[in-house]
Amino acid sequence: MSYLTLEDVSYCYPDGFKAIENISMKFDLGESVAIIGQNGAGKTTTVKLMNGLIKPTAGNVTVDGWNTKEFTTAQLSKKVGYVYQNPDDQIFHNKVYSEIEFGPKKIGLSKNRIKENILSAAELTGIEPYLDEHPYDLPYSLRKFITIASVIAMNPKLIILDEPTAGQDGNSLKRLSHIIHSLTRQGKTVITITHDMEFVAENFNRVIVMANKRKIADSNKREIFWNLDVLEAGKVKQPHLSQLSRKLNLQDKIIHIDEMILSLKK
Ligand SMILES: Nc1ncnc2c1ncn2[C@@H]1O[C@H](COP(=O)(O)OP(=O)(O)OP(=O)(O)O)[C@@H](O)[C@H]1O
Ligand SMILES: [Mg+2]
Repeated sequence: MSYLTLEDVSYCYPDGFKAIENISMKFDLGESVAIIGQNGAGKTTTVKLMNGLIKPTAGNVTVDGWNTKEFTTAQLSKKVGYVYQNPDDQIFHNKVYSEIEFGPKKIGLSKNRIKENILSAAELTGIEPYLDEHPYDLPYSLRKFITIASVIAMNPKLIILDEPTAGQDGNSLKRLSHIIHSLTRQGKTVITITHDMEFVAENFNRVIVMANKRKIADSNKREIFWNLDVLEAGKVKQPHLSQLSRKLNLQDKIIHIDEMILSLKK
């Protein structure tokens, strides 16, 4: 059985707007998955269903055998952690340390474990020097890493990052790659929503494309980035290298620079 399953899930917001329709997907542990698609496609709605922040209005979401309708978000957050699209929707403490401490405390970890988890999450996310600062004295990029650390410190097996690449510079993107690879090496699953196709090509194996409330494709990244019909339907761009290799009439389905070098040498 998969760790997380969405079975024919639809969701209507309280104002009656139907944001997603008949979505099914499964995730096993140790996977790295990107969810892509244009603004308003339903990506954030889909991932909020995964940790019970919202419950399906049709269909079922199951986490490690638990139907999310029967559990609170606090109970589910031990298993699935969600890092908000906008860090300011998540941060509410006046010290970075207290912000990261909140989740592990709430799920009842021991004092020693909480301290250990905070320090290792802060080290992984590069925010160790700022633990005594007020989060709102720090720039957006660091606030995003604080929210990532807060979720990692709860040690869930599945972690969802909602647009972690937005507003990040080159060094922060490298830090994000490091975080994602380190988590998947530990056997965790990382699901990331992003509009940065280069970041997807470099960091994920599986890619899910969403458009108009639905999942329109779910496959390995090479299949997705060379399926031009799917990219057009999802209104997403092919990575620059793949576009260039098409212009150069290279025969291989290139997504990485080393593949392009090999192909050019042929
Ligand atoms: N609280 C809400 N009430 C009503 N409609 C909402 C609410 N939140 C989102 N929506 C609508 O649901 C649709 C899907 O929104 P969602 O945030 O899931 O999209 P998204 O794919 O994450 O987009 P983006 O790339 O802009 O973050 C949009 O049309 C949005 O306006
Ligand atoms: Mg979104």
